[in-house]
Amino acid sequence: MKKVLITGITGYIGGTIAKKLLDRNYEVTGLVRNEAHVHELESLGIKTIVGNIHNEDLIKAAVSDVDAVIHNADSADDAYAVDNFIKALEGSHKTFIFTSGSAIFGGKENGKKSDFIFREDFPLQPRLEMASRVMINNYVLQSVNKDIRSIVIVPTMVYGEGLGIKKDSIQIPALVNFSQKKGYGVYFGEGENIWSNLHIEDLANLYVLALEKAKGGSVYYAENGYSSLKNIAEIISRKYNLEPAQSLSIQDAVDNFGPTGGYFGFASNSRCSAEKARTELDWNPIYNSIENFI
Ligand SMILES: NC(=O)c1ccc[n+]([C@@H]2O[C@H](COP(=O)([O-])OP(=O)(O)OC[C@H]3O[C@@H](n4cnc5c(N)ncnc54)[C@H](OP(=O)(O)O)[C@@H]3O)[C@@H](O)[C@H]2O)c1
Repeated sequence: MKKVLITGITGYIGGTIAKKLLDRNYEVTGLVRNEAHVHELESLGIKTIVGNIHNEDLIKAAVSDVDAVIHNADSADDAYAVDNFIKALEGSHKTFIFTSGSAIFGGKENGKKSDFIFREDFPLQPRLEMASRVMINNYVLQSVNKDIRSIVIVPTMVYGEGLGIKKDSIQIPALVNFSQKKGYGVYFGEGENIWSNLHIEDLANLYVLALEKAKGGSVYYAENGYSSLKNIAEIISRKYNLEPAQSLSIQDAVDNFGPTGGYFGFASNSRCSAEKARTELDWNPIYNSIENFI
């Protein structure tokens, strides 16, 4: 039986990957920083190690006992944790699957539409704010040269109910919450900006396939559909019986969600193609409508 260490296992993505792996008879260990979750995880058949991704010695010990690591714990922007894992895995032939995020494609488009669709073989020229995120991804990919089977997955806007302790994603719940407070579905600027999206279970299935089939040094973009943010706001208005959707300023987005959420999470374009995952890994996502999960 293959042993997999998952970070962020109490979170939305990590918890769902864990469930999919348990269903396929993997031995799953979760790195958890809060002891309060240990009992619940262990009752699901998950082994636990209590600790922090910023504890080098702990990471080294945790990694020594598994065949693969799937790192989701606030992973996309945390170079310190990545460095800990790469150091611990160096020379091991072991697998390291790293979760990034598709805000790397974004510009400061302030709600305007871009039709550009990113693919893995297009060179990225990230804005300054996203440059370190792209550098981290490249560092992980280049760790194949350190005898690590490293794989980067770049999820887009993930929707649907998680299968672990945390059921909710990030963007849609935040928009629903904010819209309910305002009394209308909210978008920012023109709201014509587009994000690719996919269902959490399809995403978790992609991790399983990557674990089982991907070549070291591979990056996969993950999507199975797309929507403008204005369309999402209109759906929120309908589904939650709110007033018709309305635009707020980009500054409102920044004030409420911080600069990363404001500019990139809600007012940029983040569109890509997951053709590579479909072709190379035989990934067949089955959900294709964000509308049913808002
Ligand atoms: N959800 C999306 O739509 C989406 C899309 C693209 C990319 N991503 C990226 O995917 C990653 C995971 O996202 P998510 O939605 O699963 O997030 P989440 O539900 O907020 O989960 C984050 C997890 O990280 C753990 N964690 C944070 N800091 C830690 C630390 N210092 N040591 C140990 N554990 C720590 C949290 O543990 P606690 O339970 O103790 O807080 C939690 O289990 C993030 O990098 C996110 O940016 C998410």
